[in-house]
Amino acid sequence: MKTAPVAELMADGRGRDAIGLGRMKSEGLDARHGTILSLEDINVSFDGFKALTNLSLYIGVGELRCIIGPNGAGKTTMMDVITGKTRPDSGSAWFGDTLDLTRMSEVEIAQAGIGRKFQKPTVFEALSVFENLELAQKTDKSVWASLGARLSGEQRDRIDEVFDTIRLGQSRHRPAGLLSHGQKQFLEIGMLLMQAPQLLLLDEPVAGMTDAETEFTAELFKSLARKHSLMVVEHDMGFVETIADHVTVLHQGQVLAEGSLAQVQADERVIEVYLGR
Ligand SMILES: Nc1ncnc2c1ncn2[C@@H]1O[C@H](COP(=O)(O)OP(=O)(O)OP(=O)(O)O)[C@@H](O)[C@H]1O
Ligand SMILES: [Mg+2]
Repeated sequence: MKTAPVAELMADGRGRDAIGLGRMKSEGLDARHGTILSLEDINVSFDGFKALTNLSLYIGVGELRCIIGPNGAGKTTMMDVITGKTRPDSGSAWFGDTLDLTRMSEVEIAQAGIGRKFQKPTVFEALSVFENLELAQKTDKSVWASLGARLSGEQRDRIDEVFDTIRLGQSRHRPAGLLSHGQKQFLEIGMLLMQAPQLLLLDEPVAGMTDAETEFTAELFKSLARKHSLMVVEHDMGFVETIADHVTVLHQGQVLAEGSLAQVQADERVIEVYLGR
């Protein structure tokens, strides 16, 4: 029988400041203790290989957390656990205070408010930019029903708001297939935003982007934080330095260090396994 981990966390006062808890309340989600995501003692193995080992990590509501670590550290696997793609062998994963992610399907987790962006953009290339956002609208209708359906004023406003956020208003009627790689990434982020997620997981978002696109992504993420919680996995240290106030270093499926980027960069163990290479 599992109990809510956050209550225990509060009871012994572990790491509350370290993880930036309690900055704000999250809409519609029970996160009274200020923690949007709690991973505790997560273990995942693939044919005997341990990808995650007793991994524990907490994300505060409205936080922008960067996750760094060498190739194979388990960063993507951790996102797979959070989104229900991979079931942990043991450990607990809670969204807010009450949602047990280990017992929810991928669809249920997405509907509960966790949006994920993979490295490769997955937009509908033949459809216009506008239609891509329209399709991403939170709705019970099937894809074809929603494309044909009249949008309400509120839905149009929401699309306009997202266009402003991702700065693709000029391209709204272009086929998404004609966008640059970076623009496709922004469109996909826009599609995630249409779902109004509370927690966004972004795996190597600036890989393959131009410097200008990377700069805009940094601005974009900073503007999304507080309203949303973000977990960003990135190898680009310049980018991490621009956006992160809090960094977690993963190594061999465990948290090796946590703190400001300057703090973790000064950590001997981090230098040894990762940054000093
Ligand atoms: N489905 C799978 N089957 C077997 N091994 C896997 C599977 N998924 C991941 N692994 C292994 O688990 C380890 C962690 O992989 P993961 O993709 O989580 O690392 P990562 O930190 O995201 O690395 P990168 O920075 O290269 O993206 C790696 O050694 C990888 O080969
Ligand atoms: Mg990865």
